[in-house]
Amino acid sequence: MTRADPSRRLVLASGLALAACRSEAQPAPWTGPVPALKDIAPFPVGACVPSAYLDDPSWVELARRQLDQITPEWELKMEYVLQSNRGDYRFDAPDRIADFARDNGLRLHGHALIWYAQEAPYFMTLDPKRFAGEYDRYIREVAGRYAGRMVGWDVVNEAVAEDGNGLRDCLWSERLGGQEAYIVRAFEQAKAADPNAVLFLNDYNLENNPTKGTTYLRLVERLLTLGAPLGGLGVQSHLDIEIPDGQIRNFIREAARFGLPIHISELDASQRRDGRLPDTRSLKHKRARQHALTRELVTAYMELPAAQQYGITTWALRDRDSWLRRPPRDDGRDSLVLFDDWGQPTAMFAGFVEGLNGAA
Ligand code: XIL
Repeated sequence: MTRADPSRRLVLASGLALAACRSEAQPAPWTGPVPALKDIAPFPVGACVPSAYLDDPSWVELARRQLDQITPEWELKMEYVLQSNRGDYRFDAPDRIADFARDNGLRLHGHALIWYAQEAPYFMTLDPKRFAGEYDRYIREVAGRYAGRMVGWDVVNEAVAEDGNGLRDCLWSERLGGQEAYIVRAFEQAKAADPNAVLFLNDYNLENNPTKGTTYLRLVERLLTLGAPLGGLGVQSHLDIEIPDGQIRNFIREAARFGLPIHISELDASQRRDGRLPDTRSLKHKRARQHALTRELVTAYMELPAAQQYGITTWALRDRDSWLRRPPRDDGRDSLVLFDDWGQPTAMFAGFVEGLNGAA
């Protein structure tokens, strides 16, 4: 019998893995009445939202029942606000989200003023004499527009290098005197625009990658030493469900040392594994990991003093709303946040409630 060529073996293995996952009948992650997280959590519970979801009655109903905070998913980022090459801004979508928050008694968190990944073409056209002024103007006008309505802002997003070794170089660091300079400047401009908002440095993989977590905390320390009006630590928590137990707790305890509010700002826990090999992990295993890691995170968060519990925000309300369920990552099957495609509690929800109840 001829050996199946490697690509054929891979196809067979993938097929078997897929069949195994699909055939797995699993008990529902949650049975019985579904509590409202905003009522049982001692801290704000949030989710990100694009303005289009405000026209989805099922999303609105679930959000009103479960949440007390929302974050515009992308329409308050530079890629939306500053699309024109003339330097004028647009706020129709974020204004709609802000009005929804106001009309429904929800806290509103701003994301994100300055991000290495959002280098609007307009800024590319500016000569050095105008660049700094336009950088300042952008931050002041965007943060200023929502002054008094935004409880906090992700002022600078993802400043630490991907591998955790140092900080990212980006348009802002190149044109404004270096990495620390653009970051301090952004916080100073945001403070001037909205003195009462909590100003966050936001980043990801801080628990998954201890080197990156350490670099992030050193940057926090450095910014505070430089006198930047840094008011909070934003920990995105896009969790890798294979992260070893204890790493999440250890990072949150380390971060707590600054005595500043901590926002778990973009929580999700994908069941998928980026990589070429077929994923042969069982659905039962993946759900158990999501449950355990969410419980660990919420348990550690509950240990924080109330003044440091800014809130926990998931990066989608329902699985089908998630960015990781859209192209190019889309596989249509990932379950990674608190509610499934039909608004029912997931393994993350069960872990979240256990963490609240101290059932670690
Ligand atoms: C994502 C949004 O969810 C997507 O809709 C958009 O296409 C890309 O950005 N870290 C962040 C978020 O800080 O802004 C990103 O959000 C997810 C990763």
